[in-house]
Amino acid sequence: MRYKKLGSSDLKVSVVALGTWGIGGDSWAGSGAVDDQKSIAALRAGLEAGINLIDTAQPYGYGHAEEVVAEAIKGYRDQVVVATKCVSYQDEAHVYHKDWRPEVLRAQIEGSLRRLKVDTIDLMQVHWPDPEHSLEAAFEELAKMQEEGKFRYLGVSNFDGALIDEAKQYCEIVSLQPPYSLLNRKIEAEILPYCIKNNVGVLSYGSIAGGVLSGKFTERPVYSTGNGDNFKRDVRAAFYPYYSEEEWPRTNALLNVMREIAQKHEVPVVAVAIAWSLSNPAMTSTLVGARTPEQAVMNAAAGDFVLPAEDYAYLTAACDRIYGK
Ligand SMILES: NC(=O)c1ccc[n+]([C@@H]2O[C@H](COP(=O)([O-])OP(=O)(O)OC[C@H]3O[C@@H](n4cnc5c(N)ncnc54)[C@H](OP(=O)(O)O)[C@@H]3O)[C@@H](O)[C@H]2O)c1
Repeated sequence: MRYKKLGSSDLKVSVVALGTWGIGGDSWAGSGAVDDQKSIAALRAGLEAGINLIDTAQPYGYGHAEEVVAEAIKGYRDQVVVATKCVSYQDEAHVYHKDWRPEVLRAQIEGSLRRLKVDTIDLMQVHWPDPEHSLEAAFEELAKMQEEGKFRYLGVSNFDGALIDEAKQYCEIVSLQPPYSLLNRKIEAEILPYCIKNNVGVLSYGSIAGGVLSGKFTERPVYSTGNGDNFKRDVRAAFYPYYSEEEWPRTNALLNVMREIAQKHEVPVVAVAIAWSLSNPAMTSTLVGARTPEQAVMNAAAGDFVLPAEDYAYLTAACDRIYGK
């Protein structure tokens, strides 16, 4: 495993990190109901394999993923960078909200501390902007809570450079969590160069696009919308739009090129997806969800694989060709 400093913080994080959306227990039912013991085993297997950053959030199962993380890090607390988020939350009916009014932020962060059973959160992240309420009031309150020791560092997610600049007037912003994968390269033009210039660390999400870039599907997977029941639905096809009938031929064409490279280096396809995302110099770490210990170990091993420049260029050119750039 390789480790990198996260932006302007003094945190050293593994280049592959563990995501926990899928283990929240709702919204991700495609591979069967979530088994907490298996989730804990997966997180611990990842830690044992050298991963030291776990990313979670209250809306991952109405706080359930945070509670599972608390169990998983028992005995490992000193070696784990615990990252969670505020602003977005689920209510009891698992309905999603975004709200950064100061009183809401305070209640959310205190809730995360309770569920995670930690004295301080290593990295608090503003999950999404809230255009309805004052940014100044939100970040002033965050600065106060940082001062009180509720979290050590502040990052943001799904922000652009202009919004980071606004937030920086009130707090130091050490990291950004944006979507980034071979299937979603929107941040390459402006946001990644901004992060390099401003020493903002980058923790990408969706770099294996909900599992499709692991190369495990020979046929298009079809996920259920659950007809309104969060525990029966799988958000993947809605959140990562590469599973549709129209997109599948292009997704599959890209996967065939990735399979070629994986074969050449005798690594799994998932390692090619992870290594490609890590090839951009702005990247600090790739967040990857794992439902089983086997997946966590396989993904952690990708932290040792560096895609040679010629393969990076070949794969990027194939991606440009397939997507008509
Ligand atoms: N800030 C944000 O707005 C935001 C948004 C999305 C995600 N995130 C964060 O980023 C993390 C990662 O994203 P994600 O969980 O949405 O998706 P992901 O990491 O792209 O996909 C994870 C899923 O892929 C499958 N998988 C993982 N490793 C595999 C392997 N080696 N072989 C085969 N299948 C494998 C597993 O699902 P199955 O076994 O069920 O197929 C797993 O749950 C999240 O967990 C969350 O922490 C943040």
